[in-house]
Amino acid sequence: MTSADSTAIFTHSWSLYDLITEHNYMSHQEIYAGVEELLRLRTEQGHYRLLDLGCGNARYLAPCLQRWPPAIYQGVDLSEAALAEARSYLTELPSQVILTHGDLLTAVESTDQTWDVLFTGFAIHHLQPEDKARFFRAVGRCLSANGRLIMVDVVREENQSRESYLDGYLKFMRENWSKVPPEQLEEACAHVHDYDYPECLSTLQEMAAAAGLDCTRLISRHAQHYTLLFSRSAVAKI
Ligand SMILES: C[S@@+](CC[C@H](N)C(=O)[O-])C[C@H]1O[C@@H](n2cnc3c(N)ncnc32)[C@H](O)[C@@H]1O
Repeated sequence: MTSADSTAIFTHSWSLYDLITEHNYMSHQEIYAGVEELLRLRTEQGHYRLLDLGCGNARYLAPCLQRWPPAIYQGVDLSEAALAEARSYLTELPSQVILTHGDLLTAVESTDQTWDVLFTGFAIHHLQPEDKARFFRAVGRCLSANGRLIMVDVVREENQSRESYLDGYLKFMRENWSKVPPEQLEEACAHVHDYDYPECLSTLQEMAAAAGLDCTRLISRHAQHYTLLFSRSAVAKI
């Protein structure tokens, strides 16, 4: 499986993901309210630079950034369609905005800058375990001394198999995502079935600790949708 396979659904169109998020089926409203609060707390410490890996169209992060603007915002995504939309969602942002078409793992491994906030929303679960470990190692290298990784993603229960996770998540989609037309719902289910490889929290925590990010905080959980904050050591504020 290539990264391009797992992002095909986001490459041809954003309408399906937009429909899902407009009905708040993945709790974007609550999740991004929490993310905004983390950015607010970070802003109290002064200027910050933010790298967004798998930014999509940045539709939900854009209002948070607008209220608590970083000095530099860089978004990376494999979907040109998403980046074109991101450009317009971010148009009012007073920050320096850089949008990069490319693979997120390559981007984080090759950045020659340090970042105060690394953000990633619903993208890392597409990576295989060895690539998730590479992701954390690269994050550990490019975060500033007091930097932090904000990760929004789906997470498996401890000791739950991928098959059992998928059974539960597909059931949740079919029972709750009632405003998604049946054909599109099946497209979304097929995407999840074929490309979602969520880890359990302890695995993410171990990978982060191995990369020097020894502090993990659970910021919120809405069903299987988690917001996690990783940093080098416990910090009083984000
Ligand atoms: C579910 S969308 C999430 C968008 C947004 N971050 C959010 O939280 O709503 C996942 C995004 O990650 C991107 N993506 C997934 N794997 C990627 C990879 N290896 N490199 C770059 N982008 C990737 C997809 O193209 C898509 O735009």
